[in-house]
Amino acid sequence: MKRSLRFPFVLLVLVAAALSCRSVARRGLTVGPFIDVDASPRPIEAEGPNETLYLLSAAEPGAVELRHDVEDLLGGSLDSAEAAGGRYRLISIWRRGVKPGNRSGFTARLRFPALPEHPKHDRVFPEFRRLLGDWYHDRRAFRPEVLSELVRRIKRPVDQHYGYPDTGRPYATCAVVGNSGILLKSEHGDLIDGHDLVIRLNNARVEGYQRHVGSKTSLSFINSNVLHSCALRVGCHCHPYGDLVPIVIYICQPAHFLEYMVCNSTHKPPLLVTDGAFDTLCARIVKYYSLKTFVEGTGKHPAQWGKFHDEKMFHYSSGMQAIVLALGICERVSVFGFGKSTDAKHHYHTDQMAELGLHDYAAEYEFYGDLVERPQAIPFLRDAGIKVPPVAFYH
Ligand SMILES: *[C@@H]1O[C@H](CO)[C@@H](O)[C@H](O)[C@H]1NC(C)=O
Ligand SMILES: *[C@@H]1O[C@H](CO)[C@@H](O)[C@H](O)[C@H]1NC(C)=O
Ligand SMILES: *[C@@H]1O[C@H](CO)[C@@H](O)[C@H](O)[C@H]1NC(C)=O
Repeated sequence: MKRSLRFPFVLLVLVAAALSCRSVARRGLTVGPFIDVDASPRPIEAEGPNETLYLLSAAEPGAVELRHDVEDLLGGSLDSAEAAGGRYRLISIWRRGVKPGNRSGFTARLRFPALPEHPKHDRVFPEFRRLLGDWYHDRRAFRPEVLSELVRRIKRPVDQHYGYPDTGRPYATCAVVGNSGILLKSEHGDLIDGHDLVIRLNNARVEGYQRHVGSKTSLSFINSNVLHSCALRVGCHCHPYGDLVPIVIYICQPAHFLEYMVCNSTHKPPLLVTDGAFDTLCARIVKYYSLKTFVEGTGKHPAQWGKFHDEKMFHYSSGMQAIVLALGICERVSVFGFGKSTDAKHHYHTDQMAELGLHDYAAEYEFYGDLVERPQAIPFLRDAGIKVPPVAFYH
């Protein structure tokens, strides 16, 4: 079974509500420690990245499954049909070698409210294949310097949309607002809104929480599971922050380029997909830190890492990629609503008890710790062609 069909619909919506894209198993580990904003930074240490782990991080978990998914999608047969008397359209992609129409053989399927502005399938399919092929091509490239291109790829279209001048420079200040319940313990709303760019994650709502989370949203960062649930609504309604906020999407299931095609045709502000090379960079950073926490925490050989992690499902979190995005487009980064606490809700805006399957948050927090205290120890960023901006985490 292909990844896009692995979950029943209800579960997909639940997954979409969570901060996660795919999930990772790292059980029984407590997360943290968390970083104190007021603590003075450690003196610069000579200590750099560990070369062994750096090399090992190049083996991307789930790469084989991803290749199969992409090949099935690119080589499959596509079909579009009307449903419910023309009110809906149904797009299906059958796997290579499976007879079209065989209901157990499709690899992707999307049913969405039909609107006249949606492109016809003779345009959807070639474009879908082109986008997916380009993304996958970039996905296989390791190009840390993609970080230095984010001003052009992400900031420029966002600024054009808002009517800001094209300065070619990063924003002076950015806030990345995660969804942790720790936000409710303080009232950072005004502080957050005071940043030039405010990035929010996975459509967490702000109504009723403004004192804690602020009300300004300049950029909405979502994973493509969230986009999937938007695509099921009339006109791909995906705008808890108003219809004018640009959206950056990272593709966690390649079939979601269908959702992208459907949504992009009805969406006025930019709908930007993260570059495949940017996704690969984030995957490597998290793999590196996952290896590092594994080796340091267990004393085992790094080759054993795969036995303790669900490699097929291993994935960085949306929040992690949003922070790395901010490194590329901001001169100062403030991070809110990241971290856990036993006396805080999991998400500030839901009653969800815990993450549905865990990312390797412990590894991601190690990465954040290095970002704040010793960015020179982070492999990859040294080749990224950017000056790593100061990063502060607020509780
Ligand atoms: C890097 O990590 C490997 C694997 O844990 C370890 O054997 C090696 O000593 C480390 N190298 C340095 C320079 O710390
Ligand atoms: C439909 O596809 C499934 C899975 O690919 C296959 O096992 C089955 O034989 C196919 N059925 C027909 C009627 O082709
Ligand atoms: C998405 O829509 C915008 C605006 O209509 C268009 O300029 C852009 O080319 C589309 N993107 C893709 C990849 O089709």
